[in-house]
Amino acid sequence: MGICGYLAVPGKCLVVLGLKLLFLVPAGVPARSGDSVLKDNITVRQGESAVLKCNVDSKVSRVAWLNRTTILFAGSEKWSLDPRVILMENTAVTEYSIKIQNVDIHDEGPYVCSILTNKKPKSTKVHLIVQVPARITNISKDVTVNEGSNVNLMCLAVGRPEANIIWKHHLPRGEGEGFVMEGEHLELTAITKEQSGSYECIASNDISSPDVRTVQVTVNYPPYISKARSTGTPIGQKGVLQCEASAVPRADFEWYKEDRRLFNGLNGVKIESQGKQSMLIFFNVSEEDYGNYTCVAMNTMGITNASIILYGPGAIHDVNGAAVLPSCSVCLLLLTVTLLHLLKF
Ligand SMILES: *[C@@H]1O[C@H](CO)[C@@H](O)[C@H](O)[C@H]1NC(C)=O
Ligand SMILES: *[C@@H]1O[C@H](CO)[C@@H](O)[C@H](O)[C@H]1NC(C)=O
Ligand SMILES: *[C@@H]1O[C@H](CO)[C@@H](O)[C@H](O)[C@H]1NC(C)=O
Ligand SMILES: *[C@@H]1O[C@H](CO)[C@@H](O)[C@H](O)[C@H]1NC(C)=O
Ligand SMILES: *[C@@H]1O[C@H](CO)[C@@H](O)[C@H](O)[C@H]1NC(C)=O
Ligand SMILES: *[C@@H]1O[C@H](CO)[C@@H](O)[C@H](O)[C@H]1NC(C)=O
Repeated sequence: MGICGYLAVPGKCLVVLGLKLLFLVPAGVPARSGDSVLKDNITVRQGESAVLKCNVDSKVSRVAWLNRTTILFAGSEKWSLDPRVILMENTAVTEYSIKIQNVDIHDEGPYVCSILTNKKPKSTKVHLIVQVPARITNISKDVTVNEGSNVNLMCLAVGRPEANIIWKHHLPRGEGEGFVMEGEHLELTAITKEQSGSYECIASNDISSPDVRTVQVTVNYPPYISKARSTGTPIGQKGVLQCEASAVPRADFEWYKEDRRLFNGLNGVKIESQGKQSMLIFFNVSEEDYGNYTCVAMNTMGITNASIILYGPGAIHDVNGAAVLPSCSVCLLLLTVTLLHLLKF
């Protein structure tokens, strides 16, 4: 953009040249005999207004405000076609100030107040700095993947100064906060179920409070049975076998006795499955109910099973750690007795 970049009117271009001759020197052209004062930088946020102040006195004959090499105002005459640029109305006699409304990042740069006093040119330069609060412009959508897949998350942000981006991993159901990573792209290779949960993208640059958005990552995995409790139940009582399976999506359950599938409401049993847990309920345990049961948990990712024994009172089992002693109140009693003996001697 040349000296007349903003001004399509040829007549005004001539005036610019005239001003140049009058030593109303645009930026870039060094003043031959005038002095130039560099004022402090002016920092404003995008969208706010900036007031550029210039001190003048009664001896000043000509004055102008320039944006780089473009004249915005020459005296009280507006040259800029930009409606956001206005001359301050109540400008004091000693001040020649302009206001730029709704400042944008393109407005950043040097502005010069050019003054001509007693044929001596002088200029005041202010540097306008535009800040933009960090803002996330694009972020990955929530994803559901199978365990072992690669996941790439993206979080793009704008900001001046440049936004700093960090990722925080929050475990599902608020079970804690995981690692923190820096950068726009987060790569999760061969994702595990432990890496599921919400990923928070935090963009900040200290201009305002950080912008925070979240991506939900769901990892599908086959069921694994986390609890298979065998129970001892006397004949004539209500008996319950419990089976618990972790899985995403949630597991469906089936119960078997040996090879025979059991159904809800048949043969005096009820099957209650809710969430990650399934219960096989015997309304009234009889002799032939005792035995080896299998809980099968399945989802789209796979299938697994566990054996659970329904045994009579007093029976002792050692089924791969699954069966436990009915109760350990006896142990407690023994311990107490032993302690009492120790105290005696
Ligand atoms: C004003 O800003 C410019 C450009 O960002 C920088 O080079 C200069 O050091 C700043 N001056 C002051 C006084 O802060
Ligand atoms: C200042 O000049 C720049 C570059 O030509 C332009 O993009 C911006 O809109 C101008 N700002 C004002 C307030 O004139
Ligand atoms: C966000 O990024 C994705 C992937 O690069 C792109 O397909 C999408 O159009 C972007 N959305 C916006 C609003 O820019
Ligand atoms: C359980 O079954 C036995 C034998 O069939 C019966 O005598 C008893 O009344 C039943 N108990 C209950 C609570 O239904
Ligand atoms: C129960 O059955 C399973 C196979 O169906 C077997 O592996 C397991 O040893 C059996 N448990 C007992 C205590 O018999
Ligand atoms: C339980 O799992 C074993 C091994 O995976 C399989 O051989 C068996 O058939 C399964 N039992 C049932 C009842 O699904």
